Amino acid sequence: MDEAKALYIDQAKLSERLKLPEGQTPETAAPIVIWDLGLGAAANAMASILCYEAEAAKGPVRNLKVISFENDLDSLKLAMTHKNRFEYLRHSGPDAVLARGTWQSRQYPGLSWDLHVGDFWQLASKASAAPDIIYYDFFSQKTNPDSWELESFDKLFGYCDPNKSAQLFTYCSSTTMRVALLNAGFYVANGEGTGSKKETIVALSPGFPTPCPYPLVGQEWLERWRRSSKKFPDGLTPEQQAEVEKRIEGHPQFSAG
Ligand SMILES: C[S@@+](CC[C@H](N)C(=O)[O-])C[C@H]1O[C@@H](n2cnc3c(N)ncnc32)[C@H](O)[C@@H]1O
Repeated sequence: MDEAKALYIDQAKLSERLKLPEGQTPETAAPIVIWDLGLGAAANAMASILCYEAEAAKGPVRNLKVISFENDLDSLKLAMTHKNRFEYLRHSGPDAVLARGTWQSRQYPGLSWDLHVGDFWQLASKASAAPDIIYYDFFSQKTNPDSWELESFDKLFGYCDPNKSAQLFTYCSSTTMRVALLNAGFYVANGEGTGSKKETIVALSPGFPTPCPYPLVGQEWLERWRRSSKKFPDGLTPEQQAEVEKRIEGHPQFSAG
């Protein structure tokens, strides 16, 4: 691996998000806040930082604050000892967040990065700002079951600011993940393929611009879900399943026509 690559949000879209709204300056425009869950070897975090630096080199952009969470720093520490293979780590940011938990770009005052070390679900409330973008990149359900439960997505939805729409990107494309996100109140769209996955998921909290920047799943998906043999995440009682079913069937995503 020789370059950082944000796996789910395409760089052009992040560059677009960093553009200043008409008539605004970096000081007056709201910053873009990325929640990077988990940090791993920092490929997603660094791809975002490098994208900001490339855009800021061309002219003023919205400020960017990256907030990473990680409960095991081993993969970053290991990657840091192989910077010839992980070239994107040849940057002052990773050393600083490892040493001090925070980094402020010297060159660009609008660019900063915080790292919270520990379990995201315990530390989420410590984030200094609500997310605009969430990289949901925990290991799979098998390895990190806590992070794929219905309640987890309810909590995550609760951390989103009702006054700005957050966009969540994940490599996962399962039906039950879509169900968990819809059940929590997110809108669900199809994301770009990555690696072996033909499709990923983008979820949006309410308040996104219309038309939605991502293709929302619609009646066709709902029909397929009704016929699916795996409609619900594991471990739900029949009463809980009925609750979830009611939420999905009544979700405004499917009633908008
Ligand atoms: C697939 S890797 C992330 C790769 C990373 N996003 C990158 O760009 O290199 C998943 C990471 O999530 C971390 N993780 C899993 N559960 C977590 C939790 N509850 N809180 C914080 N980090 C967690 C794991 O330790 C692991 O490093």
